[in-house]
Amino acid sequence: MENALILIASYLLGAIPFALIVGKWGYGIDIRKHGSGNLGGTNTFRTLGKKAGFIVSAADVLKGTLAAALPFLLQVDMHPLVAGIPAVIGHCYPIFAKFKGGKAVATSGGVLLFHEPVIFMILVAVFFLSLYLTKYVSLSSMIAGVFSVIFSVILTDDKLTVILMAGFALFLFYRHRANIVRIYKKTEPKVKWI
Ligand code: G3P
Repeated sequence: MENALILIASYLLGAIPFALIVGKWGYGIDIRKHGSGNLGGTNTFRTLGKKAGFIVSAADVLKGTLAAALPFLLQVDMHPLVAGIPAVIGHCYPIFAKFKGGKAVATSGGVLLFHEPVIFMILVAVFFLSLYLTKYVSLSSMIAGVFSVIFSVILTDDKLTVILMAGFALFLFYRHRANIVRIYKKTEPKVKWI
């Protein structure tokens, strides 16, 4: 019963569409009608600028962190990454936004931040190094996803962590399939600010 409540709470947390809330309440703009149409930090940066992009990215990370922390906070025996799975699903398929949400990057990162903060910090560095070299947010997100599995193998002894991280990375690739096609066709937008 407690486990089910944690999984439901995790989904509902993840389903809070911060990109939609900040866009509509703060700027009167529905970012689903702009840029990639994605309800995530990148499209918020693209559409509404750095301040809104930073707020949405930070909020999307923190909801993943809070979801992963629920078993610890409520003293329930559940792996933090398992508790984070519904939050990532909620972020991508939010009940509060017609099930069309983001691409799993920030919220997966937030889940990892609670469970393996050192790996999270390394991946942030990998992401920005890749962004500096390629100028593609989507490609850099996927590269960070690959390295999340590599560093889980190197830095943890927990097989379940490695398996779950591989699952998160595969799902991240699945959510970026339109970006993969655009990168291949050279139509994916590059960022200019790095
Ligand atoms: O945060 C998701 C990012 O990797 C790609 O977003 O809007 O460029 O499709 P977008």
